[in-house]
Amino acid sequence: MPQYKRILLKLSGEALAGEQKYGIDPVTVSKICGEVAEVVRMGVQVAMVIGGGNIFRGMAGAARGMDRSSADYMGMLATVMNAVAVQDAMETLGHPTRVLSAITMQEICEPYIKRRAERHLEKGRVVICAGGTGNPYFTTDTAAALRGMELKCDIIIKATKVDGVYDKDPVKYGDAVKYNTVSFEEALGKRLGVMDATAISLAMENNMPIVVCNMFGGDIARLIKGENVGTIVQGES
Ligand code: GTP
Repeated sequence: MPQYKRILLKLSGEALAGEQKYGIDPVTVSKICGEVAEVVRMGVQVAMVIGGGNIFRGMAGAARGMDRSSADYMGMLATVMNAVAVQDAMETLGHPTRVLSAITMQEICEPYIKRRAERHLEKGRVVICAGGTGNPYFTTDTAAALRGMELKCDIIIKATKVDGVYDKDPVKYGDAVKYNTVSFEEALGKRLGVMDATAISLAMENNMPIVVCNMFGGDIARLIKGENVGTIVQGES
């Protein structure tokens, strides 16, 4: 029995690049979508937010001299490309998917309309929310928190290349320790890198738990079944 009825799944754009440094690797996208499909088959309603960092990272552009807004808009466009790639892969696997963008481009996808997104979810379609929040200065992590709340998801799942939140970077430090549970305050105070501060604050104020887990190896499905997977970030009990 799935423990959650409706989830918001946040995928990083970088994940879609696979072993490449840049762009979209269709084999990797298909593999990720296979993990999502497992959850859809369990009857869970899935909304997704995908980053754009594999194509263009707004903050990096800004750091290298671009106007932050221009760079962020480019990043938002990148998320639409990723969303269409994921839609294609999900539908190849047989799961109807709708891409709804915060920035209207109706020839490519539907505009993001909350009530429409909810109807799609109720009908069992995977909803991919593209275009971030539609505003510069906000990350796709913040878009994930926002969509997770307005679509009344039970949980936000941040699926990453690592299997949870560590006290330090597990790639750099062999003695890094993984947390099972972290409070929002701790995640913010210790800058644990779960999500950016805006996203965490939003989740904290609305009591929306975030789970960070690995995107591969069936972790997402195990989490949905109620197994102890990844790191849960939640309010202090
Ligand atoms: P229901 O109204 O619940 O049946 O949803 P639906 O999405 O199946 O119906 P609709 O007739 O709205 O859409 C049919 C197809 O057109 C779907 O594949 C939609 O994703 C697509 N579609 C709907 N609106 C737009 C839009 O504004 N732009 C683009 N590009 N496609 C759209």
